[in-house]
Amino acid sequence: MQKVAIYPGSFDPITNGHIDILKRGLTLFDKIIVAILHNPGKKCLFDIHERVEMLEQSLKDTPQVEIGTFDGLLVDYAKQRNACAILRGMRAVSDFEYEFQLALMNRHLNRKIQTVFLMTSFRWIYISSSIIKEAAQFGGNIENMVPKVVNQKLKEKFGTVD
Ligand code: PNS
Repeated sequence: MQKVAIYPGSFDPITNGHIDILKRGLTLFDKIIVAILHNPGKKCLFDIHERVEMLEQSLKDTPQVEIGTFDGLLVDYAKQRNACAILRGMRAVSDFEYEFQLALMNRHLNRKIQTVFLMTSFRWIYISSSIIKEAAQFGGNIENMVPKVVNQKLKEKFGTVD
């Protein structure tokens, strides 16, 4: 039977750190479903369609990855997609508290689904979608930290197109 994992997040936008975790995850799982949280109550820079499109373009050469969207509880979506695990990336110590809380609540809600943490490459340890957006907003060069399509979209959003 195929081992499927869910890789959830807001992905607003996807960064090279996310892609690094996905690639590491594919050494453990046969298939990974990237699950983008669709929560109209949460303010995102990119709408759900833009986020799906950026993910599709960034991962078009990785057939073992599928892109999906979800609302409601993550464990319910994981069960619906027959996933045995939730994949999360871990950067520095600051990630730990929130990730620990999320993993334990998800375990409480569904004991059959395991959370698997993978360490990102040292190269991406200080990168997050938020800090990328902040740098891009003020014209900072982030081109080596995000897929090409994301760099382009950020420039369009902030009106900093060359
Ligand atoms: O990487 P992010 O943006 O912090 O991802 C957070 C995410 C999407 C994993 C988390 O907010 C989530 O799973 N939301 C869905 C609701 C849910 O199931 N919450 C956890 C148990 S209450």
